[in-house]
Amino acid sequence: MKILIQNIKELVQILDNNVQLVSGKEMSTIETIENAYLVIENGLISAFGAMSEIGDLSISSKYDKTIDATGKMLMPAFVDSHTHLVYAGSREIEYIDKIKGLSYEEIAKRGGGILNSAKRIRNASIEQLYTQSEQRLKDIISMGTGAVEIKSGYGLSLESELKMLRTIKLLKQNSPLTIRSTFLGAHAVPAEYRGKQYEYVKLVVNEMIPRVGEDKLADFIDVFCDKGFFTVDETNEILEAAKKYGMIPKIHANELDYSGGIQVGVKHSALSVDHLEFTGKEEIDILRKSNTMPTLLPGAAFFLGMVHAPARKMIDAGLPIALASDFNPGSSPSGNMQLIAAMGSIMFKMLSEEVIHATTINTAYAMGINDILGSISVGKIANLIITKAMPTYHYWTYSYGDNKVDTMILNGNIIKLNL
Ligand code: NIG
Ligand code: FE
Repeated sequence: MKILIQNIKELVQILDNNVQLVSGKEMSTIETIENAYLVIENGLISAFGAMSEIGDLSISSKYDKTIDATGKMLMPAFVDSHTHLVYAGSREIEYIDKIKGLSYEEIAKRGGGILNSAKRIRNASIEQLYTQSEQRLKDIISMGTGAVEIKSGYGLSLESELKMLRTIKLLKQNSPLTIRSTFLGAHAVPAEYRGKQYEYVKLVVNEMIPRVGEDKLADFIDVFCDKGFFTVDETNEILEAAKKYGMIPKIHANELDYSGGIQVGVKHSALSVDHLEFTGKEEIDILRKSNTMPTLLPGAAFFLGMVHAPARKMIDAGLPIALASDFNPGSSPSGNMQLIAAMGSIMFKMLSEEVIHATTINTAYAMGINDILGSISVGKIANLIITKAMPTYHYWTYSYGDNKVDTMILNGNIIKLNL
């Protein structure tokens, strides 16, 4: 299949192939070409440039399909590097308690929160989980996502964690999205281990990790290292155990307090540390000396009404930032990356250029796929968004709440949208 997209109003987020991530000041500029074309061959971006230099590539008989993108932008699809989108049912009932004033921690103490989702996962079949999750994948594609990381962590028993990871494996096999999986057995202590947290950590270390590792069900390991959840020592032990199976850390850190999660993540060369509402000078200094991607999840901070991560301070200190959806039923029930992009500007005061880096190349780095996705570069997988007509690319982060995707291309194929 060979496709030509021509008369593109602006081709956005062009990067050299060797750029792994974009940090600090460099985040405030992006490379674009106005009035551009792009060629897709065998699922990959094979050429692009200005229409004025298209030459022989304009001959339409060379292509299976040509698309006219007059007035529209062409950008890399979003990469969403942090989700929990395999879950059963929903939690809008406990949301009522939240509206009435209960905190996330209070809801969790009452058996709501993660444990509520765990109960639902345990009662769901793999077929039910698959059907619900596949629908969510179709929905996020319609809103511009081209790659997604998905975590386990609502099973909290060997059997149910395996059920979640096998569901993710099936989604990987069948979905046009690029998917990576993360084992998050240490998401919460299940009800039957209440008061025996360390015994649960031992179960994760001695039984769950070896089984998940041997069955090659997870690319990454995650721990909710935070106040009221798992300690730094427990996180350390879990990350050590997972290392033996090649699972790279991507951890939940510093959402509820200065938990030491950032430090333990960096110590284990985590690919990313995520949430980071509680990030001070010490944490920023540690991140600056690391290869770990600081990942912010504005959807959760917005939904839970939490303090905001100090994004500006972090970028101004020279750090890269990634923005992901955290799509989950308890703290961010949306996988709409266009909304996350807008929140980056509205809540974190990030420029549209910074937001574009943070939702494409930097999230691609945070899930280990920056060599194949996350920018307009020759040889990368053609996971692309043709936007509806828009005046400038700033419109992308300014106009929130409606869907600005006109056409999605995944692996070089035009996708029928689930609108
Ligand atoms: O990333 N912070 C931990 N876990 C999820 C929330 C999970 C839930 O409430 O179901 C998060 O926000
Ligand atoms: Fe999360």
